[in-house]
Amino acid sequence: MAKKSNTDREQEPLCILAIESSCDETGVALIEDGRAIHANVVASQASVHAQYGGVVPEVASRRQLEAIVPVLETAFAEAGVGWGAVNAIAATYGPGLAGSLLVGLTAGKTLALARGLPFLGVNHLEAHIYANWLRTGESEQADPEVPLLALVVSGAHSELVYIAEHGHYELMGQTRDDAAGEAFDKVARLLGLGYPGGPAIQLAAEQRDTTRPNPYTLPRAWLPGTWDFSFSGLKTATGNLLAKASASGEKIAIADVADAFQDAVVDALATKTVRAAEARGVREVLLAGGVAANLALRERLKADLDARGITLRYPPLAYCTDNAAMIGAAAYFHLRRGERDGYDLEVRPNLQLPFAASRA
Ligand code: KG4
Ligand code: ZN
Repeated sequence: MAKKSNTDREQEPLCILAIESSCDETGVALIEDGRAIHANVVASQASVHAQYGGVVPEVASRRQLEAIVPVLETAFAEAGVGWGAVNAIAATYGPGLAGSLLVGLTAGKTLALARGLPFLGVNHLEAHIYANWLRTGESEQADPEVPLLALVVSGAHSELVYIAEHGHYELMGQTRDDAAGEAFDKVARLLGLGYPGGPAIQLAAEQRDTTRPNPYTLPRAWLPGTWDFSFSGLKTATGNLLAKASASGEKIAIADVADAFQDAVVDALATKTVRAAEARGVREVLLAGGVAANLALRERLKADLDARGITLRYPPLAYCTDNAAMIGAAAYFHLRRGERDGYDLEVRPNLQLPFAASRA
């Protein structure tokens, strides 16, 4: 059983059946008290979309529909429990692809109705942050303690968020154009590295010949006086570099370009995150979203924050990219506060974090 904190001490354990279907992953998890993972099953369609160079929404929703019941059954089998163990149901209702979201949300609401269980819709971005509450290691793990700073970096979002307390989000900065993950995906396509781009660029960069300096440096958009990011100029600069080399017949090492690109993204994200953490005086920073899986970003942020006595926390790789365990973690804190959603809850493809205040 998960270790109790002040928010849930002396209460009955709460086991949540959590469903995630916002994009091209179908996930079902059984999560106790927002932290203990009894089952976490993810069916990924990435290989299907790889042949198109990106996610095709119509294909994604059809695959969600095919996967949801088998994934649900596998999750129960993995946990070795039946419906009797489930106290509530939660499903992602946004942001994401409408057709994909609809599958998991409808499944969640239908099961809740059929089983007479409380239901809650979960914000996918909030869930990425709450992946940091999951007990994923062997050893006892303490909860992150507010106030916190979170860097949320996924395929569609790049946001610096100040969390004064559970559920209270302040948007400090965000991307003005492409999200960090989107930039990885677009540049991977330019480099012929395929989809999803983030892991492919990371792997290419790791294979660079490090016995000589990288001949390329790509630009960072600092946007002084703000906590905002911008990555579209970097993508254009990478394209220009490749076009120039191809026109002049210069032989270019893809690994060098991948490394220079990754370095520029990591530098921009890490520099602003560290400054924001110092400006707000937080003792802990959370990394969240698919790009949190990037090893160069983790290492750079950890080194820079360690040097300032600030702790960096990030989920293990499998919990950075889309999964249902994080949906169960986020849902827990809402359900404990007595929050519930009705069966009329609809998908919200453009849902944001519920920001109380913006800009600092
Ligand atoms: O959070 P996520 O799984 O889905 C969304 O909610 O968007 O994030 C997907 C994004 C993709 O853009 C993918 O290229 C990126 O996360 N990503 C990475 C890595 N692994 C996944 N980016 C950089 N380095 C990685 N290792
Ligand atoms: Zn995500």
